[in-house]
Amino acid sequence: MPALQEQTCLQSIDQLTEDIFRLTLTAPQIARKAKPGQFVMVKTTAGFDPLLRRPFSIHDRPDKETIVLLFKAIGKGTMLLGAIQAGQAVDLVGPMGNNFHYNGNKRYCLIGGGMGIAPLLFLARQLQEYENVPPSILLGAQTAEELHPLIGDFNVLGCNPQVSTDDGSLGHCGYVSELLPPLLTEVDEVCVCGPTPLMAKVAQLCAVAAIPCQSSLETHMACGLGACLGCTVHGHDATYLHVCKHGPVFDATQIQWVR
Ligand SMILES: Cc1cc2nc3c(=O)[nH]c(=O)nc-3n(C[C@H](O)[C@H](O)[C@H](O)COP(=O)(O)OP(=O)(O)OC[C@H]3O[C@@H](n4cnc5c(N)ncnc54)[C@H](O)[C@@H]3O)c2cc1C
Ligand code: FES
Repeated sequence: MPALQEQTCLQSIDQLTEDIFRLTLTAPQIARKAKPGQFVMVKTTAGFDPLLRRPFSIHDRPDKETIVLLFKAIGKGTMLLGAIQAGQAVDLVGPMGNNFHYNGNKRYCLIGGGMGIAPLLFLARQLQEYENVPPSILLGAQTAEELHPLIGDFNVLGCNPQVSTDDGSLGHCGYVSELLPPLLTEVDEVCVCGPTPLMAKVAQLCAVAAIPCQSSLETHMACGLGACLGCTVHGHDATYLHVCKHGPVFDATQIQWVR
């Protein structure tokens, strides 16, 4: 189904930390079609700088009129987005890309690192509310400050995440992938999003345990349409994959994690 361009309205902007923001947008056309794992391309300014739209996972779809985005301000586009005001129009194209596949007969573990946590709330909501299979959730970030506001969202859904921080300020001290091994005998499938080293490690653990793993990749993107090669990753069998066109969600065995 083709993506839509929609003039959405910003209901609210929440600043969760110094550089992490959550946008709640009235976007009925995109919200009705959205599936967990898909993303939107956001025009971050009414002007032309930056010219290119920026991709963001659909963090949540609390109802059929609303989508929520979660992002860290790391550059020009995201800093402009962090400064917009409630009531302003935001131009989106979406929903784009493929989605996580899930069904009510399987037990899932969702693993998110940093802003890779973004697409997992929508997935957890779908699993919990529509498939009635509460997933196991593992969340990791550098510090407690980054994780605190996000944990609450999963708790509201009835999922109780296990957490890790790089500095040990909350939960396990270390990488979130270190929380996975004890769960590998309890789940049927893993869905992961985050930094490449995290996804590579999770892919390796799942391969050894013979458990399917879906990985959502957040590469640099330019056109978002499969035309510019800006989002290319190496496939396992010497192919090139475009994250915008073939993903962003891949079976982990499709990706050449170590080169
Ligand atoms: C499918 C997809 C979903 C995404 N979902 C989210 C999300 O939910 N929340 C979120 O915070 N981010 C997400 N991202 C990443 C987000 O698109 C970038 O952070 C954003 O485009 C940066 O724009 P900018 O103009 O602020 O930064 P730029 O000015 O373009 O870049 C600033 C700096 O950040 C680096 N950078 C830019 N993009 C990335 C990237 N993708 N990965 C690593 N470094 C990068 C640049 O190299 C540069 O050093 C997603 C990316 C993809 C492809
Ligand atoms: S962003 Fe241009 S090909 Fe994917």
